[in-house]
Amino acid sequence: MNAPKEYHLNDEADTTSLGAKIAKHLTSGMTIFLSGQLGAGKTCLTRGILRELGYHGSVKSPTYSLVETYAINNKKISHFDFYRLSAAEELFEAGFEEHFSEENICIVEWPEKIATVIDTADVLIQFEIVGTSRKITLESETLMGKKLIEGVSHEI
Ligand SMILES: Nc1ncnc2c1ncn2[C@@H]1O[C@H](COP(=O)(O)OP(=O)(O)OP(=O)(O)O)[C@@H](O)[C@H]1O
Ligand SMILES: [Mg+2]
Repeated sequence: MNAPKEYHLNDEADTTSLGAKIAKHLTSGMTIFLSGQLGAGKTCLTRGILRELGYHGSVKSPTYSLVETYAINNKKISHFDFYRLSAAEELFEAGFEEHFSEENICIVEWPEKIATVIDTADVLIQFEIVGTSRKITLESETLMGKKLIEGVSHEI
């Protein structure tokens, strides 16, 4: 929808701080896809988002549970990690499609695993490991996503 924005993040603190900036522009019903190899920083960015929204507990990686849900102030967030999902159809078997609603914010690690059933998000975030740091690309697929990326870019 617009030119991707690229950021270089030197350490974990940079990643959580970008997450905090993203959190400020999140609105109900948005879906964010986080793509990138194992250990690239997807959960770390999610932690930054949740902390900024006001969650102070531990942010667990939903590697085995597939989803962790949070109710923070007036926002509901579902954080998925589909790495262990063997077939996209399992999404329906587990009743997960209900999370992708107008009220809920969905943050999805390993969205490639569900691509045959959910193939669009408001914002696509791509992580790349570059030496000891990370390169992150933000791209929007909807107007809501575009506004979020513009909002974030004004803070950096
Ligand atoms: N910008 C950064 N530069 C260097 N290291 C980083 C950066 N951001 C996060 N890390 C480190 O990357 C590691 C892995 O992070 P994280 O668990 O968030 O990855 P992930 O993408 O969620 O992996 P997985 O696919 O296994 O769930 C952590 O040790 C974290 O400290
Ligand atoms: Mg993770």
